[in-house]
Amino acid sequence: MNAGEKIVQKTISFVRDLFAGAEGGHDWSHTERVWKMAGYIREREGRGDRLTIELAALLHDISDPKFNDGDEEAGGAPAFDFLVRNGLDRERAGHIRSIINHISFKGGVSQDHIHTIEFRIVQDADRLDAMGAIGIARAFNYGGYKNRPIYDPDVPLQEYSDPSAYHASGAPTINHFHEKLLKLKGLMNTKTGKKIARERHDFMLHYLERFLREVDFTKRESPG
Ligand code: ADP
Ligand code: NI
Repeated sequence: MNAGEKIVQKTISFVRDLFAGAEGGHDWSHTERVWKMAGYIREREGRGDRLTIELAALLHDISDPKFNDGDEEAGGAPAFDFLVRNGLDRERAGHIRSIINHISFKGGVSQDHIHTIEFRIVQDADRLDAMGAIGIARAFNYGGYKNRPIYDPDVPLQEYSDPSAYHASGAPTINHFHEKLLKLKGLMNTKTGKKIARERHDFMLHYLERFLREVDFTKRESPG
């Protein structure tokens, strides 16, 4: 095993231990999918530093405010410390910290931008995991965790101006599709990400159409 493979293996055990017992939408299995997807996108795109992408994907959610008593400032600092402690060069570790900061702050806190190919690939991989069949499962899982209704035709769709209002919202989970999930397709960075997103987007549309058709089932069908 070379040094890169070693630190990847160490990071995998570190993150798995940390996520033991975490809420279902944010767990090792989400991290593992993002890690594999990021590697796939990198291969298809034919660029991006592999070690940076792998480590950033593995560590991208360890500082989620949901795991830090709402501390939005935690960001990429714990990931940086872990990597440097385990011998990664500070330049790479710093880049990874900034990738994580920009993924988890969701446009709210951090003002500076980062446009590296490594960031764009990891962000695409994370966003793809909020789409398609897995995205649907994660959304309803999250809604259940927050004790939100699945569907309520009396609650209108809403745009949120700041992340805390968005997080505090008690809106039904179906609304979340319109508020976030159906927008993801238009936010993809890479050609590979866009292609996968198109298909997952169409599946979500199909699912929503089917969902509303079942809600209205008795309007359409006469007992026969
Ligand atoms: P990420 O893994 O990209 O950091 P988030 O922390 O934004 O994602 O959300 C984790 C998962 O929970 C995603 O699949 C997201 O769609 C879902 N989720 C977030 N907010 C809501 C919500 N208000 N209703 C339903 N699902 C949500
Ligand atoms: Ni994530």
